[in-house]
Parts: sequence; structure tokens; C-alpha cells
Amino acid sequence: MHCIHSLLTLLLTSTAVAHRHAHARHMDMHPSSPSDTAAAPSPHPTKYSNYLFRFTTDNPVNTTEILTSLQPYGFNMSHLHSTFSQTMNGFSALMSDHCVGKLKDMVPDGVEIEPVVTMNVRAPASEPTFPIVLKSRQRFLRHRRRSGGHIHHNHGHGHHVRPRGVGFSIATRILDIPALAPSVAPPVSVTASPSPPQDYDILQTDATWGLQRLSQRDSIRGVTPETAVDGQNFHYKFDESAGEGVDIYVIDTGVNVAHTDFGGRAQVKFVAESLKLTEGAEDVAGHGTHCAGTTGSLHFGVAKRANIYAIKTMGKSGGGLSSDIGAGIEYMVKRHQSRRDLPGFRGSVASMSFGLDIDQKDIGNSSIVSTSPMLDGIIMAAAAAGIHMVIAGGNQGIDACRVSPGYLSNKVAPRIGYNASVITVGATDVFDSRADFSNYGECITTYAPGVAVLSTGIGGDNTTQVKQGTSMATPHVAGLVAYLLGLKPELKLDVQGMKRLITSTAGRGFVKNAAVNEGKLLAYNGIDG
Ligand SMILES: *[C@@H]1O[C@H](CO)[C@@H](O)[C@H](O)[C@H]1NC(C)=O
Ligand SMILES: *[C@@H]1O[C@H](CO)[C@@H](O)[C@H](O)[C@H]1NC(C)=O
Ligand SMILES: *[C@@H]1O[C@H](CO)[C@@H](O)[C@H](O)[C@H]1NC(C)=O
Ligand SMILES: *[C@@H]1O[C@H](CO)[C@@H](O)[C@H](O)[C@H]1NC(C)=O
Ligand SMILES: *[C@@H]1O[C@H](CO)[C@@H](O)[C@H](O)[C@H]1NC(C)=O
Repeated sequence: MHCIHSLLTLLLTSTAVAHRHAHARHMDMHPSSPSDTAAAPSPHPTKYSNYLFRFTTDNPVNTTEILTSLQPYGFNMSHLHSTFSQTMNGFSALMSDHCVGKLKDMVPDGVEIEPVVTMNVRAPASEPTFPIVLKSRQRFLRHRRRSGGHIHHNHGHGHHVRPRGVGFSIATRILDIPALAPSVAPPVSVTASPSPPQDYDILQTDATWGLQRLSQRDSIRGVTPETAVDGQNFHYKFDESAGEGVDIYVIDTGVNVAHTDFGGRAQVKFVAESLKLTEGAEDVAGHGTHCAGTTGSLHFGVAKRANIYAIKTMGKSGGGLSSDIGAGIEYMVKRHQSRRDLPGFRGSVASMSFGLDIDQKDIGNSSIVSTSPMLDGIIMAAAAAGIHMVIAGGNQGIDACRVSPGYLSNKVAPRIGYNASVITVGATDVFDSRADFSNYGECITTYAPGVAVLSTGIGGDNTTQVKQGTSMATPHVAGLVAYLLGLKPELKLDVQGMKRLITSTAGRGFVKNAAVNEGKLLAYNGIDG
């Protein structure tokens, strides 16, 4: 009998919360105690657990039929949470271990089963807090593009391209990004596969350090950890397509979709069964809202025109069930498939800032790997369906190839016979050093800003929070993938091609304190400015 206990945790290491409102809800996060490790399903037949099932048999399996024949053994049909389509080939349900035994008898050697339990997110006891005041008005300036009409003649000796730069090329008009109608777009084509270095349309002058880092090749100079946190004076340069037409699925604790910084672009699309009755669609933890803000909110986001969809699979404890995550991914795949041929649709990106935990006592033993074959299979199926999967590398400060699902990015990972087309992200700070907590190694596809990250918060419509973790680095890259999909329609379903683009565009050799055997890549949008 094969029972894996997968402890899913959100990959954030500490939370510094700075709400603007007295009514702000503070997430009470404590370091997890050893008692978090939940027990195996009890042999007592009345014990129910949430299970994730995948059929591994080649023969088609009729889930309804199987569950119907389980009813005499006590299976309650209303405990079926999600039936997966052919892509996933399985289901999630609440079931007694007695029923699970019967199910196995019915599908000999044909079903994989995984009971999964929750676990609290680990957060350091001392959390730095930073006072953040969100300035009232965003500053977006139109940049005059180098191409498409701004070239002038230089004494008849060929073309002279004007130098670009903040001092020269900023027009005075302030753009409101959400209100930018297509008719306001400059008369240049941005779809003709620009190859790096690219020019840019918009300069945001009140961006976070992470956004600036993402849009310049070199390290940020003249900055301290303190000034990095006041994320309102950095410069983010981007093409005004800004991920328009791309769907970003934030698989997390939900999203505060009413936050003004989403400008109405965020929607709740899925709430896991086990959370519907307890906390509903609201993000009570703040983790998902923060991540979503980094993917695409107006102030803090990378892809400022992308659609943001909350797939709520984790709750306020900071943990979740892989059966719920499986169901959420199943929902996302179905929705992606129904939208992939719509006009204007430019692709789907999943931002997944969670991972299985690894027992504290096993951290030092490099032969121990935390795996979830079920979740791995489901994530790989979603990537195969053409969804760009971006996954946090983990916060244990160990080789990322030891943690699922982050290890899916590399063939050296156990159980993976090929280089999976998922992107795994490690975290760096404002000095381009790998954060001490960040996992590292060959399974890290790229690093991205993940320390002192300012983004959208919960507890109000204008709240902000500073957080750190590979959780925070991941949505930078998910947003970057969305942004690049906006520029490269040909990569809409080409997850391998996107991964190659991310790694070939990334800055090389910048990341300090990384492992010797890795590329030390740092995510970069290819803007030349
Ligand atoms: C699965 O079985 C149910 C009940 O026997 C039947 O109604 C349904 O049509 C079957 N579905 C498929 C896809 O064969
Ligand atoms: C089946 O589950 C539902 C929802 O949990 C419950 O209301 C109902 O009583 C259960 N039925 C039986 C026969 O246990
Ligand atoms: C590491 O874990 C493996 C597998 O459980 C075990 O066989 C080995 O003895 C452990 N090594 C150490 C140094 O604890
Ligand atoms: C898979 O990834 C490893 C490590 O990044 C690399 O050395 C290898 O060439 C890759 N293999 C393929 C087939 O892409
Ligand atoms: C939130 O921001 C919006 C837009 O800037 C503003 O209209 C609103 O008054 C703010 N709300 C609060 C409670 O500060």
C-alpha cells in the first residue's frame, strides 16, 4: 500500500504587514510545531480523509460507475468533490479508508491514491515590519519608442537613433493603464516578434525594486535594504501590451479582488470544496492577494493588463490539500481549453507559490526528497495542456531538486525522466544575492526578486504588505511569462519555447551565493533601457 503524506505549505518565509487601516486583519502566523505533522489515516473504518485519486490503468475508467458501486460500502456521493477530465483522469473526494480499500480492489493496480493533510506555514518568529504608505496616484509615463517614426536623419549619413533614457524620452502625459484604450496605442506594431533588446512604451516611476530589477540588465545601484522596501521610487520599463489577453491563475489562498490596484481585472474563479463552508472565497491569509498583486496589479504587478484569476485551494492556516489543488488545477485546465481558441486569447499562466514540506529532521539528509507523485502528475498534465506553470523553488535553503513540485523543472529530479516544461523560481534580494532561505541548484530555472517585496494586501481596498519568500519571487516570473506571451503570440501554448525564452533572456552570472552547478540566471524582460 502506497500512501504519501504531502504537506503543502505556502512558500513565504516571513510576513511584514503594514496595513493602512485599523481594521486590517492580521494573519496570525506562528512557526509550525512538530505536532503539525498529521497522522496517517486511522485504520478505523469511520475515519474520513480527503483523497486525490488518479487512474493509472490504460483502460478507460468510468468514475461514476466506480463510485456508484462503492455506495454499498458507505461512499456518500455528495462527498465527491471533483471528477477530472481525461487530461487528469482521476477525482478528488472525501472517503473512508474502508472505501479506499474497496476502490483498490475494484481497480487492481490501476489507481494511485494520496491522502493529504494540511500544515501551517512556517514563519520566522521575528518579523521585520516596514511602514508603507501607498502614494495616492500611480505615475506612468509614456516613452517614445525608438522604432516606428522616431528615427531622425543625421546629416544624411544614414540613420541616427536617438539615445533613450529617462531624461530624454519621457513625455509629460500621464497614462492611466487600465483606461488605455487600444485607440491610444502608438502607431507601431508590437506584435512583430521583437527580439531583445527591446524598446519600451511605458516607464513607471513609482515601481517596486523588483519591477525595476526585472526590466534592467544590470544590478540596481545605490540602494539599501531599507530604501528597497519603500517600493515607490523605482523605475519599471515595459511594453504597453503588458500581458493583455493573458490569463494568470493564482493558485493560492484566494485574492482580495476588490483591491483598487487590480482595477477590476481580478476575479475569483474557484474555491476548493473543503474551504467553501469555512472561509469561502475571501483571502483571509493575504498570501494569494500579495502574489496576485505581483503578477499583475497596477502598482506592484509585472503584467498590468493580464486577467487575474483566483484559484483558492489553500486556507488561512497557510496550508492546503493536494486533493483541492488537484481539483483547482483541473478547473484551470478545463477553462484554458475552453478559451484557447478564442480571438484575443494569448495564453494561460499558473502562478503556484506552494510546495510540499520536508520534515525538519530530514533537511540535513540530502538523500531524502519530499515527493507527491499525484500532484506531480497533475501539474505535468496541465503543462502538457499548454499552460505555463511557474512554481516556487521552496524556502528550506536546500537543493530545490529535493522538493516537490519545484523539482519538476529538471530531469535530475527524481522520477522525472525528462526536462519538464515547468519553470521553478528561486529568490534573490536587492543586491542580487540568493536569499538564505531560497532553495537552489539545477532545479531552479531562474531567480527573481523575493525579499522585501511590496504588493497588495488584505483588510481593505488599498492595503499593502511586504513579504518575502520564493512565494514572492514566483509571481514575478509568472507575470513575466504573461508579459512575454503578450509580445510573442507564437508561444501561446509552447511551454518549452517559453521556458527557453525565459532562460535565454535572463541575466547571467548575477546571482551571488548560488550553487556552483547552476546557471545563476536572474529573470529579465529584455527591455533595453
Ligand atoms: C459511466 O457510467 C454511468 C453509470 O453506469 C453511465 O450513466 C455513464 O454514461 C457512463 N459514462 C461513460 C462516459 O461511459
Ligand atoms: C452525505 O453527505 C451529506 C453532506 O456531507 C450529508 O448531508 C448526508 O447526510 C450524507 N448522507 C449519508 C447517508 O450519510
Ligand atoms: C538519510 O536517509 C536515508 C533514507 O531514509 C537513510 O537510509 C540514511 O541512513 C539517512 N542518512 C543519515 C546520515 O541520516
Ligand atoms: C535538461 O536540464 C539539464 C540541466 O539544466 C541540462 O544539462 C540538459 O541538457 C537538459 N536536457 C535537455 C534534453 O534539455
Ligand atoms: C482607496 O484608493 C482609491 C483610489 O485611489 C480612493 O478613491 C479611495 O478613497 C481609497 N480608499 C481608502 C479607504 O483610502
